[in-house]
Amino acid sequence: MKKLANKTVLITGGLSGIGKECAIAAAKEGANVAIVDIKSGDMETAMTEIKTHNPKAVFIECNVSDFGLVAAAMQQVVSTFGTIDVALNNAGIGGVPNKTGDMSEKEWQDVINVNLNGVFYCMKHELTQMVQQKSGVIINMSSILGKVGFAGSPHYAAAKHGVIGLTQSAALEYATEGIRINAICPGFIETPLLAKAGITDHPDVRQHIVDLHPMKRLGTSREIATGFLFLACDDSSFMTGAALDIDGGYLMQ
Ligand SMILES: NC(=O)c1ccc[n+]([C@@H]2O[C@H](COP(=O)([O-])OP(=O)(O)OC[C@H]3O[C@@H](n4cnc5c(N)ncnc54)[C@H](O)[C@@H]3O)[C@@H](O)[C@H]2O)c1
Repeated sequence: MKKLANKTVLITGGLSGIGKECAIAAAKEGANVAIVDIKSGDMETAMTEIKTHNPKAVFIECNVSDFGLVAAAMQQVVSTFGTIDVALNNAGIGGVPNKTGDMSEKEWQDVINVNLNGVFYCMKHELTQMVQQKSGVIINMSSILGKVGFAGSPHYAAAKHGVIGLTQSAALEYATEGIRINAICPGFIETPLLAKAGITDHPDVRQHIVDLHPMKRLGTSREIATGFLFLACDDSSFMTGAALDIDGGYLMQ
């Protein structure tokens, strides 16, 4: 029996990196997948790849930092598939690196708007639907930087810490309503986000980041998708409010 047979799985930021790998994992387990993302050049290729594993997948264009667009996107998921059984709030950006005192208001707002406000906007609508269904699972993509600081990324770390606070508070609120809410805290994972941040393309920077992990390597999107699948299905039926580290040992130091 497939672990997510006929479930509706909504994934924000599902066209790339970790989100795409989670979408493929969900589709392989029999889920109807709704990808909520901004349009990109990779859209056709990513959707074709996901549909290889289950043709019942749709793309819904939406900027998660826009409250009205999120409301419309969530409505579209429900009108397409009838439910939202699992939601992975994963869309995120690295932002422009800067020291706190030198950071512009725009640099700060850009990251908070997508990485924190976007998660809240999505959760608000997902929860409304899940309360009606009396069931649901929400998984929020935080980070190791949701638990510790990182010089040059105060906006990103603040947003990811906020995601854990939001996860735990909502988990408490809905624990008796059949809704489980957890977070994932990946270490540095080889995705286009790291390439955009100039980490994977520069050998010295890459080595410095690799060395921060006791396992002395970066993680893969597949390793995060495995954790996502565990939290998404009944294998984790007694888990709520957790922030699951998948980080090559980064946080134990
Ligand atoms: N790669 C890492 O090392 C790492 C580590 C910890 C946490 N994370 C988190 O994992 C998540 C996925 O990151 P990734 O590495 O796969 O990055 P990625 O750049 O490969 O994918 C991010 C996806 O989010 C989408 N997105 C960005 N802004 C959006 C918006 N405003 N509205 C809707 N969609 C938007 C992008 O289009 C893209 O499809 C992010 O939340 C990121 O912060 C990544």
